Amino acid sequence: MVGARPQFVKEAMVSRAARRLGAWRHVLVHSGQHYDCNMSDIFFQQLEIPAPDHFLGVGSGSHGKQTGEVLVRFEEILLSERPDAVLVYGDTNTTLAGALGAVKLRIPVAHVEAGLRQEPRDMPEEINRVLTDRASTLLFCCSERGRTVLADEGIRQGVHVVGDVMYDLYRTMVPSLDPDAALRRWGLRRGAFALATLHRDFNVDRPESLEGILRGLCRVQVETGWPVLLPLHPRTRKRVEEFGLQPFLEPLHVTEPLGYLELLSCLQECALVLTDSGGFQKEAYFAGKRAVVLMPDTAWRELVETGWNLLAAPEEGAIWRASLGALDPYPYPQELYGEGRAAESLVAVLAGASFPS
Ligand code: UD1
Repeated sequence: MVGARPQFVKEAMVSRAARRLGAWRHVLVHSGQHYDCNMSDIFFQQLEIPAPDHFLGVGSGSHGKQTGEVLVRFEEILLSERPDAVLVYGDTNTTLAGALGAVKLRIPVAHVEAGLRQEPRDMPEEINRVLTDRASTLLFCCSERGRTVLADEGIRQGVHVVGDVMYDLYRTMVPSLDPDAALRRWGLRRGAFALATLHRDFNVDRPESLEGILRGLCRVQVETGWPVLLPLHPRTRKRVEEFGLQPFLEPLHVTEPLGYLELLSCLQECALVLTDSGGFQKEAYFAGKRAVVLMPDTAWRELVETGWNLLAAPEEGAIWRASLGALDPYPYPQELYGEGRAAESLVAVLAGASFPS
């Protein structure tokens, strides 16, 4: 079950491994939570994900509406397909709806990226994670920390530490990246630009924090003399217009959301990452780039505890101070998320699992 950008990326590796093993019929359901071409189709093309078997066409809406619509439409698919298990990824509304739909029909749920936790506890992704872990029979963790977190919450059965499928994908795709083309396309120089992404509700839905972050990006650009490339999430674009903050975008190098290959090609050559994306802060680490994480906390705590990534409040001074810190050389923390074989390990566990009916 997929529906949003970060899930297409994870499904890419798992579906490849599942096809290679050929142990089950893999039925792909796309909720339609993300539907723009550059938020959805481009990932299927670039990552060679087979077309979904079912497209639920749910689209945008309030949390209740989006989650509810996925649940209603997914239940019909479950009743007709009768799968042995449902595989859900990450922490989006699609994840929760997929897990709920399955568990209510007593279909076992397998959760990829289980055991991640982050403050504030009322952020939508955190609610989705906690509830999905509760509903799951198999819980696949990216690191040992996930196992500890789940054990502390009393979840000990069905927990497997397999590594991170996003790291598998990154390693697989590096040879297909074209950093030179990316530099030419946006008129950038190697090692002389920053790359930023921004979409979290707590950052972009409040005018003060959105303005604080945009001021921070402009400050980075002025102080370093480097362009800040900002592929703009549709949600963020809408809020900038609503709050009349367009003047803060003008100095920045704003583009449409980028595909996987374009974003990671830019990542190879940037000097610095600023992001509130869960996946992108980790991809920065895979690429050996330090990131300023625009959040009060992160689910990828090992990246902050090792000192590689730095958290920053949504405020100009804090963002510039963290950026200065992240520009210092720093020892690279090795192999925090496995060795690039997470999808294979996960598929092997799933293929060998017996689900009591
Ligand atoms: C969702 C996930 C988040 C994930 C992110 C990746 C939840 C609660 N949040 O946040 O965990 O990190 O995706 O991008 O599930 N929109 C478009 N076109 C699209 C998709 C969205 O214009 O293709 C607009 C919609 O108008 C919508 C807004 O973006 O109002 C937000 O989309 P939504 O899927 O609700 O959440 P994201 O902010 O993308």
